[in-house]
Amino acid sequence: MATRIEKVGVVGCGLMGSGIAEVCARQGFQTTVCELDPTILERGMASIRRSLDKAVTRGKLDASTKDEVLGRLRGTAELASLADCQVVIEAIVEDRVAKQALFGELSTLCPKETIFASNTSSLSITELAAATDRPARLVGLHFFNPVPVMPLVELVRGVATSDNVLEIMRSFGEALGKVVITAQDAPGFVVNRLLIPFLLDAVRALEQGVASREDIDQGMKLGCGHPMGPLTLLDFVGLDTTYSIAQIMFEEFKDPRYAAPPLLKRLVLAGFHGRKSGRGFYEYDADGGVK
Ligand code: 3HC
Repeated sequence: MATRIEKVGVVGCGLMGSGIAEVCARQGFQTTVCELDPTILERGMASIRRSLDKAVTRGKLDASTKDEVLGRLRGTAELASLADCQVVIEAIVEDRVAKQALFGELSTLCPKETIFASNTSSLSITELAAATDRPARLVGLHFFNPVPVMPLVELVRGVATSDNVLEIMRSFGEALGKVVITAQDAPGFVVNRLLIPFLLDAVRALEQGVASREDIDQGMKLGCGHPMGPLTLLDFVGLDTTYSIAQIMFEEFKDPRYAAPPLLKRLVLAGFHGRKSGRGFYEYDADGGVK
């Protein structure tokens, strides 16, 4: 039976969750974003407002449309507020236990028809689905940072995902204005399977003194046409996030290509998490510019 998606729930209002919520509301869906931490919720909602203001300033959105988008968007700390959504997208911390607990709780709150999606970048969709009462109705829906700008979404099929749900979610991804590629439930899906070893190799090159951080970045920007060099991209994605993705992928593949280099681990231990913490491979000012 066809599911008509009008209301979307997003859990988590960090970098990814706020971007996903913004895109959903901009594309016409009634969007409720649930975040338990009031500071993160306020910061996330403020970043959505800033992004919409910027779109108005740049002539991409008119002011009345911006007000309509904001009218479709609601922040809450109550998970139960998502009970009337047809789709709930999880975008919380990249931790299997936390995500399974969340999906278990959502199973008790949402009607049987509600489709669950996870924005996980590396965890098994099949394993997350097993923590719900509806494994056939859970997919991976992996967005890229910055969500409002990057045109791709990876749609991931778990072992139990039904054909019908996969098709509904493909149409939903397209309705969000994204190009949808489909991947099986293999570690890192398509993009991170290729991207993570590349980023880790850039850290190894720096560690081994092959070149300076600037020259490694310039090499890949100007030599290969990448929009950002790999060390800048690591700062952008988050060193902690990349480290935890690498750990999960190494655990699955036992392949040294996915082993986090000691330098990455040490920077994470030092709290140098990249742009969001003010320091990673580079140092950043309050506006996110390189010092
Ligand atoms: N929100 C909304 N819009 C944004 C934005 C944001 N956070 N950041 C940039 N933009 C918009 C700008 O407003 C601008 O719009 P305009 O064309 O209308 O002027 C446009 O994007 C380009 O931005 P800028 O001119 O400021 O800067 P750049 O041209 O350098 O582009 C970038 C910025 C789009 C981030 C570009 O550098 C880029 O594509 N970098 C690579 C990003 C990438 O690889 N992301 C994937 C990471 S992997 C991942 O997320 C998966 C996870 O699992 C690890």
